[in-house]
Amino acid sequence: MARRMCIAGNWKMNTSYHEAMELVDALVTDVMGIHDRDIVVAPPYPYLKPVAEKLAGTNVDLAAQELFYEEKGAKTGAVSGPMLASVGCKYVYVAHSERRQFFGETDETANLRVKAAFAARLVPVLCVGETLEEREAGETMAVVSRQVTGGLSGISEAQLRDMLIAYEPIWAIGTGKVATPEQAQEVHAMIRAKVAERSPEAAKAMRLLYGGSVKPGNAAELFSQEDIDGGLIGGASLKAEDFAAIVKAS
Ligand code: PGA
Repeated sequence: MARRMCIAGNWKMNTSYHEAMELVDALVTDVMGIHDRDIVVAPPYPYLKPVAEKLAGTNVDLAAQELFYEEKGAKTGAVSGPMLASVGCKYVYVAHSERRQFFGETDETANLRVKAAFAARLVPVLCVGETLEEREAGETMAVVSRQVTGGLSGISEAQLRDMLIAYEPIWAIGTGKVATPEQAQEVHAMIRAKVAERSPEAAKAMRLLYGGSVKPGNAAELFSQEDIDGGLIGGASLKAEDFAAIVKAS
């Protein structure tokens, strides 16, 4: 079964309002007519609605960079799944390593967020990945495996099929140090095998994205690996031309 490729941008805490509007306009033009893969952008929260309006009727979908796991209430600064869905988000990223590092995200809260995403009919993209220290200590597989198991706890087989996992080695994020296609493939294969312990069918269907310094020049080789079904793109998603080139490389 061929899995549909997915190229997902992550603008993080970048762009002014005007830059965001220009970026989305340029991107929509650059990827027009590409309908055989999923193309996703994730602007900062304040720009979700205006970006959603520009994406209406296009081949580009909207993601949020994070969600809180409760629906509403006294949680200052938090944004819930239903709120994101109501402004047109289709996807939501969960437990990006920067959320784990700066905002106290754990495997347990990641799991609550995956469940909250499904409850709001959003597609979660669970992010996992090891630090440089963990890689050098030979702990990559153990760390990623624990993050996958923790993040997917209690998720149904049907949900597993629909969601995505992004493998992002922390040492490759924003550093220009990309994992080799072999290093990435090795971890992706392990993640798929881990999901297969729960459901072989879901493991075949689930899309696994690679993230960490993906650029137009290295995308095609990464995406040609058997278990890599696209990418989560940070820095290069801030330039329409580069992001479009990565989409075309997939
Ligand atoms: P990068 O970020 O492409 O800038 O390395 C990837 C990510 O954090 O999703």
